[in-house]
Amino acid sequence: MKINTQFAEPFINKTDFDICLEEAMQALSQLKNKSGKGNDFLGWMDLPNRISNQEINKIVSVSEVLKKCETVVVVGIGGSYLGSKAIIDLFKPYFKKQSTEVLFAGQNLDEGYINELLSYLSDKDFGIIVISKSGTTLEPALAFRLLLNKLIEKNGNSNLKDKVVAITDKEKGALKELANAYQLETFVVPDNVGGRYSVLTPVGLLPLAVAGIDIKKIIDAAKLQVIELQKEELNNPAIIYAVYRNLLYRKGFSNEIMVYSKPKWNAFSEWWKQLFGESEGKEHKGIFPISMNITTDLHSLGQYVQEGQRNLFETFIRFENNETPLQVNNSEENYDKLNYLTGKNLHYINSKAEQGTIEAHYNGGVPVLQIELVQLDVETIGQLIYFYEISCAISGYILGVNPFNQPGVEAYKQNMFRLLGK
Ligand code: PA5
Repeated sequence: MKINTQFAEPFINKTDFDICLEEAMQALSQLKNKSGKGNDFLGWMDLPNRISNQEINKIVSVSEVLKKCETVVVVGIGGSYLGSKAIIDLFKPYFKKQSTEVLFAGQNLDEGYINELLSYLSDKDFGIIVISKSGTTLEPALAFRLLLNKLIEKNGNSNLKDKVVAITDKEKGALKELANAYQLETFVVPDNVGGRYSVLTPVGLLPLAVAGIDIKKIIDAAKLQVIELQKEELNNPAIIYAVYRNLLYRKGFSNEIMVYSKPKWNAFSEWWKQLFGESEGKEHKGIFPISMNITTDLHSLGQYVQEGQRNLFETFIRFENNETPLQVNNSEENYDKLNYLTGKNLHYINSKAEQGTIEAHYNGGVPVLQIELVQLDVETIGQLIYFYEISCAISGYILGVNPFNQPGVEAYKQNMFRLLGK
């Protein structure tokens, strides 16, 4: 992984860079010696090394049981579903149906969504993974009540253990009580790992294993990053990313757009938005995370990025190609006037669109960072997960906030509960 800063450097001066670099080194050292804000939530830092073979084997064997179902519904919201959805969407085919289909619920309160899901599941042999660290979040609790009801209606309540798995706190919360009462298979979310940092715990790993993703490869790749990205060195990409984000923020670039050219990346950008938005957006500070899929969004948001308010910077995610080349054929008639592309493959054309966009936006006053990845495989994603987690924590410390709490999420809940007469 490499961070290319070529199109952001001209916006930054050397003295500011050196000061911020020093702050980043300090932030990383505070994370390592656990002396910074939110230091009771640093369990994610060595998680890839701490997860035992016994835990991995249990995740794999429970996933094998769930895989016997035609469909498995993962019920959760925020950090309890975004990480697994991010990775599953990246590796599932665009169009081909998979042998065990993984669906998501509990991430909204839309009556239509749940109605359609329940009716879709009517003739399916389905299982449920219900995930809530607190065990009390309304959206997944409600979806789970309705789905469990459906499951019991279909199958009765014997053998629930083979169909329903709960991932929650080791001892407290309504979900834990319910899991005990129904004697469900359970996994624990470690106390010292917050929701949005939990993708490498059973929260992310069990749904991934059910979707057929090799979780050992992901953990091993993340393990390597624990060593690499904890180095207090200038060439540590997690430090570079955090430093540039903060320097640009200080210059008034308060919105970051993650730009990607693969539609499969949509869900990953949602995970990233939550990680950074919920970690940094507090005390009236923080960079607002947005995402853009090119070339699709160049025909919608592109105009704004090119000529709107200059408070944006972009981070492009770029991969080397590992797709089967699809060449443009020659046309004798050339009615569509596309023969200048004859023999070129789509990835080549897409990469030129990407390069053209970077140059256009940069020339229009938008700083551009580029995260360059070798290829899109599970190892790369395992590395990237840890990269974003640690870089987000460093960035939050530079900003001066606690990147591990989310006090602002409570405000809507209190109003909602009052309005619902709880
Ligand atoms: O990052 C977080 O902590 C949050 O986004 C939570 O994951 C989200 O609110 C869901 O909480 P819970 O898992 O307790 O249901």
